[in-house]
Amino acid sequence: MQTLRVQAENTYDVIVGCNWKSEFSELIADRNRVVVLVPATLAAAVVGSIVAAKNVKILEIPDGEIAKSIQTLEMIWQFLGENGFTRSDLMVAIGGGTTTDIGGFAAATWLRGIDWVAIPTTLAGMVDAAIGGKTGINSAFGKNLIGSFHSPRKVIIDQIWLETISDRDFSAGMAEVIKCGFIADPKILEIVEASSLAELRNSLESTQELILRAIAIKGKVVGEDFRDNFAREVLNYGHTMGHAIELHSQYRLRHGEAIAIGMIFAAELARFKGVLSAQIVERHHKILTQMKLPTTYSSLALPELLPLLLLDKKSRGTTLRFVALSDLAAPMRLEGVTEGEIKATYERVTT
Ligand SMILES: NC(=O)c1ccc[n+]([C@@H]2O[C@H](COP(=O)([O-])OP(=O)(O)OC[C@H]3O[C@@H](n4cnc5c(N)ncnc54)[C@H](O)[C@@H]3O)[C@@H](O)[C@H]2O)c1
Repeated sequence: MQTLRVQAENTYDVIVGCNWKSEFSELIADRNRVVVLVPATLAAAVVGSIVAAKNVKILEIPDGEIAKSIQTLEMIWQFLGENGFTRSDLMVAIGGGTTTDIGGFAAATWLRGIDWVAIPTTLAGMVDAAIGGKTGINSAFGKNLIGSFHSPRKVIIDQIWLETISDRDFSAGMAEVIKCGFIADPKILEIVEASSLAELRNSLESTQELILRAIAIKGKVVGEDFRDNFAREVLNYGHTMGHAIELHSQYRLRHGEAIAIGMIFAAELARFKGVLSAQIVERHHKILTQMKLPTTYSSLALPELLPLLLLDKKSRGTTLRFVALSDLAAPMRLEGVTEGEIKATYERVTT
């Protein structure tokens, strides 16, 4: 078991390689009321695993991206109100990134902020969504446009959850791990390149090392720039085009799948602008394909993607900017990218 400390608006521990049930029992010991948010798909596993303590109530929420809606939020507020939740009570979100995103946001907004703990159950949740304090929901105008910075009190990572996630969700989580490799820790790329997807899934040791390395990077960046001013932008590598594609696909693509295509786009854009070598661009294609992630998107989608790109939080007015690389572990900003440059680059990521 290893503990990584994240210094955000409050300091909290991320415990990796633990038994979540023991950690959960400790968490609830000194709380009057605890609500456990869980998506429908995991409800049976969670209910069967936790002690029937009388201070714990379970609230089942919808599964997947549709859960990050105002309707789910209202349902949670209603539950908290009916059960008289106060500032000394606790919310525990057990699930993938969608569950921790909405759980954290509900905790941020109830009484202007109650404590919450994340128990991520997908790889994407463990290495990314549950770390960093960004919480929120989607709107018709884009992903995560409504939200708040509200760090959990603790993040509990038990790899046992990964045994039941689909290969597709494991791959989607690997996209964020690989992103950390490109922006800050090339050792991650070496570990991934040394195995097939199936070998990685079956290796507790390699998976744990990748989780620890990815969290260390996210934790460090978040510690330097909690509120997303400047330094934290590097974590958005692949996300400008990725978010547009994710929204355009109407969430048929997993977040990580869209980010994989977005990273290819960012690498190809950097090559087009003459700042990144063809060899590193090729490494993007190879490693993402090896992890069975998509690297292309429909050639017909560009006219609809362009307005979505302008919604991205890294856009400034009508000027587009992208996080790019000039080398491995050397992120930079590409400012004032023109529509022409986007069109030319997009041709390289189409089917
Ligand atoms: N807040 C942040 O900083 C941040 C960062 C990255 C991603 N995100 C968000 O995270 C979300 C993506 O996270 P995700 O990929 O975990 O999605 P998800 O929560 O939708 O989970 C994916 C699927 O896996 C299932 N699942 C979860 N745990 C399981 C388990 N142990 N066994 C079997 N099935 C399981 C879920 O029911 C769901 O169907 C997106 O909404 C994204 O915007 C947030």
